[in-house]
Amino acid sequence: MANLIPEEKVDQVRSAVNIADFIGQYVQLKKAGKNLFGLCPFHEERTPSFSVNEQKQIFHCFSCGRGGNVFSFIMELENLSFPEAVSKVADFGHIDLPATYTAQAQPAKPKDQLQSDLLDLYADSAKMYQHILVNTELGESALAYLHERGLDDQTIATFGIGYAPKNQLLLDFFKAHKTDYQLLRQSGLFIENQAGELRDRFVDRVLFPIKDASGRVIAFSGRILTKSPDEPKYLNSPETKLFNKRSVLFNFDLARGAIRQRKSVVLFEGFMDVIAAYRAGIQNGVASMGTSLTNEQIYMLERVTDQLYICYDSDMPGQKATDRALKLLGDNSRLNLGVIQMPDGMDPDEYLRAAGTEKFVQVFDDGKQTPTAFEMQYLRHDLNLQNTQDQLTYLAAVLKQLAGLSSNVEQDLYLNQLVQEFGLDKADLRQQLRSVVGQQTVHRQPTQAAPPRLSPEAAGLTPPPPSIDGTPTNMNAAPLSRVERAERLLLYRLLHDHDVWLRVMALADFHFVHDQYQNILADAEAYFNTHNRFELAIFTDFMTDEHLKQVVTSLEFMDIASETSTEEVADLVNVIMNQHPVAEQINGKKTELTAAKQLGNQDLVQRLTLELIELYRQQQQVKQADNL
Ligand code: GTP
Ligand code: MN
Repeated sequence: MANLIPEEKVDQVRSAVNIADFIGQYVQLKKAGKNLFGLCPFHEERTPSFSVNEQKQIFHCFSCGRGGNVFSFIMELENLSFPEAVSKVADFGHIDLPATYTAQAQPAKPKDQLQSDLLDLYADSAKMYQHILVNTELGESALAYLHERGLDDQTIATFGIGYAPKNQLLLDFFKAHKTDYQLLRQSGLFIENQAGELRDRFVDRVLFPIKDASGRVIAFSGRILTKSPDEPKYLNSPETKLFNKRSVLFNFDLARGAIRQRKSVVLFEGFMDVIAAYRAGIQNGVASMGTSLTNEQIYMLERVTDQLYICYDSDMPGQKATDRALKLLGDNSRLNLGVIQMPDGMDPDEYLRAAGTEKFVQVFDDGKQTPTAFEMQYLRHDLNLQNTQDQLTYLAAVLKQLAGLSSNVEQDLYLNQLVQEFGLDKADLRQQLRSVVGQQTVHRQPTQAAPPRLSPEAAGLTPPPPSIDGTPTNMNAAPLSRVERAERLLLYRLLHDHDVWLRVMALADFHFVHDQYQNILADAEAYFNTHNRFELAIFTDFMTDEHLKQVVTSLEFMDIASETSTEEVADLVNVIMNQHPVAEQINGKKTELTAAKQLGNQDLVQRLTLELIELYRQQQQVKQADNL
C-alpha cells in the first residue's frame, strides 16, 4: 500500500501506543476474559459487542463486523486518511512526526460531498466570526460584553467564540468567494425570503460554535447582547445535513478527555455554565441544546463514563428540571446519577462570578448529592413541614422514593435522617416502608419499571460464549456452515504457522470455497514475499480491501487452541476440499451450458441442464448436513 510515511515510522507509532489506551479515549472499555469490551462507537447499541484485544493490538465488533488496528479505528471513526490517522495516533503517543508527511497527504475522500462542503463553510464562518470579535472594531462591544461576563481571551479562543455584527457580512464574504448559491441555501447560515434572496441569519449576536464529537463546527448558537422581549435570548442554527440537535452535546469534543480522567461527566443547563466551569478547571462538563437529554445523547455519554452529575440552575425551575432529568435518566440509562447544586438559587456561571474559583470548585468536591438526597430536599418545595398534614404527605412521598432503592444500607441511612428530623420511631418507619415496597411490587406495570441495574455479566459485558470457531453466538447472521468454520480455522493456521503454510501451499489444487478467504490468501502470499512473520496490525495495513481486513481481524477473536497438529490441518483441508467440488462442478457446468447454448446444441443443453439440477440437489444436501 502506497503511503508517504515510511513503514519503520508507522511501526514505531503503532508499537508506542497501546490500542486500548487510544480507543479508551472514545469508548469505555471493561475487562472481560482476555479481551476488553465496550459499546461500539460505530453504531447504536445497548449491550457491548465491541471488543479490543490488547495482546494482538486489534479491535473487532461482533455486531457490525468492523475491526482492525489502531489506525483503521480512527480512520473509520473520523473519516481520516491513513497518514492523518498515523499522525493522530503519533500525537497521542507523543511521537514527533515531521509535518511533511501529513502536509502532503491527500485528505480522506469525503463520504459525501455536500457534507464536506458544509463543514468547510462552517469552518470558514467560524473563523470569520471569531476574527470579527477579536480583531475588529465591529466586535468591540461584544468583546467587552464577554470580558464583563468573565471570559478571558484564552477562553474565547478555546471555545472559538465569535460575533455576528449588526450589518450583514457573511453573505457578502461568501459571494465574494463565489461560493455556490445552493450550498449557501442549505447551510442554515442564511434566511431565505420568498423571492429566494438570502440574508445572514445571525445578526448582532455572540456566537458559540456547536461542534461534533471530533471538534468540527456544525452549527452556531447565538446569544443576544442585550435582553429584548421580542427576540429569543439564544438563537440556534436550524437542523441541517450536519446538525441534528438531538445528537449533539455542547463541549463533548473538549470534555471527553476530562470525562475519562475524572470518570464522570457533569451535565449543565447552559453553554455559559459549561464555559464557566471549564474556566475554573471543571472540564468534564457538557450541555444539551436547551432541551432534555435525548437517547442519542445518553448513548454518547454511556460510552465514555458510568457516572453523571446533573448541575442545573439551583432556582426552582432548575430543580424541577433536575427532578425530570433524574427520572428520565433513571428510566433510560445505566448511568449512576448524582446532583450538584450551587448555593442560593444561582446558576453555575453566576456562582463562579459571585464566589470565585475556589468556592466554586469546592461545590463540586463536597456538594454531591445522591438522587434520593436531592429528592428528599426537592419534595419539600411546596410543603410547609411545620404543618402535620404536610409532614404526612412528605413522609409518604419520601417512603415511596426509598422503596425504590435496592440497597438496605442506603434505605437505613435515610430512615435515620427521618427519625432525627421528625422524632419518629424507626421500627414504625421500617414497617411503613415494607408495606410501600409491597404495594409497589404489586402495582408496578412492567412497562413502567426502571431497567434493573444489571451486573456486568448480566448486562452483557461479558461476551456470550463463542461457538467453537469463535463465531459469536449473538450475531444476527446465520450460523456458519461446517465448511466455512473449517475455512476460517485453516486460514488462521496458515497465517500464524509457517509450517502449515508450507504444507498447504504445496497441495497443487488447494482452494478455499468462499472467495473472501481465497482473496485473503492471495494477499497473504504477497505479504509473505516481503515480510517473514505474520502480524495482524501490519498485515491489515498492507491489505487494501476494507471488508477483507475485517474478516481477517475477526479470525483473531476465535476461541481456539493455540497449538495445531498435522491431523487438524489434514482434517480441515479434507472438509474444505471434499465439500467444495460440488460448487466448482456447478460453475463448470454453467460455463459448458452457456457454450452449448451459443452453439445451439439442443441435446447438449438438455443433458447439461439435467446434470446441473442434480448438482444443485447435491449441494442442497451438503448444506443441510453442514448445519446439523
Ligand atoms: P446566560 O443568560 O447567557 O447566562 O445563559 P444561560 O446559560 O444561563 O442560559 P439559560 O439558563 O437561560 O438557558 C439554558 C440553555 O437553554 C441555554 O444555554 C440555551 O441552550 C437554552 N436557551 C435559553 N434561552 C433560549 C432561547 O431563547 N432559545 C433557545 N433556542 N434556547 C434557549
Ligand atoms: Mn446564566
